[in-house]
Amino acid sequence: MVGAQWGDEGKGKIVDYLAASFDYTARYAGGHNAGHTVIFNNHRIILQLIPSGIIRPGKKAIIGNGTVVDPAALVAELENLKKWDIDVRGRLFLSNRAHVIFPYHREMDRAAEAARGAAKIGTTSRGIGPAYEDKASRRGIRVCDLLDTAHFAEKIEPVIVEKNMISAATFGHPLETAGLVEQYLELASHIRGLVTDTAVLLNDALDRGQPVLFEGAQGTMLDIDHGTYPYVTSSNATSGGVATGLGVAPTRLTGVVGVTKAYTTRVGSGPFPTEMLDLEAHEVRTRGNEFGAVTGRPRRCGWLDLVVLRYAKMLSGIDSLAVTKLDVFDQQSEIRVCTGYRYKGERLNEMPPDVETLSQVEPEYQTLPGWQKPTPGIRDVKNLPTAAREYLNFISEQLQVEIGLISTGPERDSTIIPRGTKLASWL
Ligand code: GDP
Ligand code: IMO
Ligand code: MG
Repeated sequence: MVGAQWGDEGKGKIVDYLAASFDYTARYAGGHNAGHTVIFNNHRIILQLIPSGIIRPGKKAIIGNGTVVDPAALVAELENLKKWDIDVRGRLFLSNRAHVIFPYHREMDRAAEAARGAAKIGTTSRGIGPAYEDKASRRGIRVCDLLDTAHFAEKIEPVIVEKNMISAATFGHPLETAGLVEQYLELASHIRGLVTDTAVLLNDALDRGQPVLFEGAQGTMLDIDHGTYPYVTSSNATSGGVATGLGVAPTRLTGVVGVTKAYTTRVGSGPFPTEMLDLEAHEVRTRGNEFGAVTGRPRRCGWLDLVVLRYAKMLSGIDSLAVTKLDVFDQQSEIRVCTGYRYKGERLNEMPPDVETLSQVEPEYQTLPGWQKPTPGIRDVKNLPTAAREYLNFISEQLQVEIGLISTGPERDSTIIPRGTKLASWL
């Protein structure tokens, strides 16, 4: 299951719904930059690194090698789950190969953003990018190193020396590293019981025929290779990330669900062709409660962009689309949908690779009528207002993909699963 836009499509709600049919839920990329909202017993729980399937009693959850893990944030997340009486013992597993986020990564993240000035990416300042940088430059510390109490200090020492040199040269001061080794060894003692070779665990489960749901974080347009670079995150959010981020071969995937809102949002900077005018955006933001689950930042709002969704379908091989937040349009009299881009008068057939071009494209819109009737509580597609059905059919026909799930509210029961779809056959 992947985000088909710029993140926050409602993945948490969809995973929570689908998780009932799967033995495992597994995260393959990102870190606690993600914020996946699940409404559970009338409470709002925000999962950051722990897969959303953990909410379902008895289900197992895996944090894969492709993620980056801030142990302090993970321990805080575990504490939060405890508050809701969600016991993760024997159900949550963390990869021994995942990379560890340290406080200096957060510092570097903030410093780099400050240095970029007006061109800042608008990161979540969780240290995600700098942690992946260390992974790529082969000076990262992994979970297995953190657990190696006898050698951890030895392993991290040269990293700290190097970081301090870079920090002093770049930012004019060394990093805050006093007490770091002790703090991390203490954190290690809290997560030791979760750590295992999760690739072996998952492949064994698959060999036994147990179903696994792969939970994407972020979204297609934030993918480091295919997104609106450099205004992206530092990992592969598209379905390819499953193979590398969990050690599960691509041939083992049965199908891919893409999640999209009925419109589009984006947090942080970067081009956004279908961004709405202030007043329209304000209305959608208010009705859709479009504020970051983790950072509280107001999300930028725009019309549905079929160019983005077509691109997402190609990149991840989306077989079935889950459309969330249909209810946010319940009061809308007219709905615009972007069906193509023009650049300097010419129709673009491919997503431009550079943000300069993408920020200058002119979206081509089709306007569809709104339905102006409430949709929450509807359980059957047949009972949706005609214009809502037509809106969904339009999306499906334009993209040549089925609509396998429709969400009309944040709660579990505001969900419609049309019959006879591929998605329905997987549940
Ligand atoms: P994620 O990052 O993709 O999991 O999405 P977020 O949790 O960051 O943001 C989605 C927001 O929309 C959350 O506040 C959800 O509770 C909410 N939400 C999800 N589906 C629906 C829906 O169908 N209708 C409405 N009104 N809200 C929804
Ligand atoms: P979920 O899983 C929306 C965005 C940030 C910023 C860019 C880089 O909840 O959909 P980072 O901290 O990753 O280096 O920030 O990516 N971003 C997200 N936007 N949803 C997310 O996750 C995001 N995770 C990162 O806002 O623009
Ligand atoms: Mg989110």
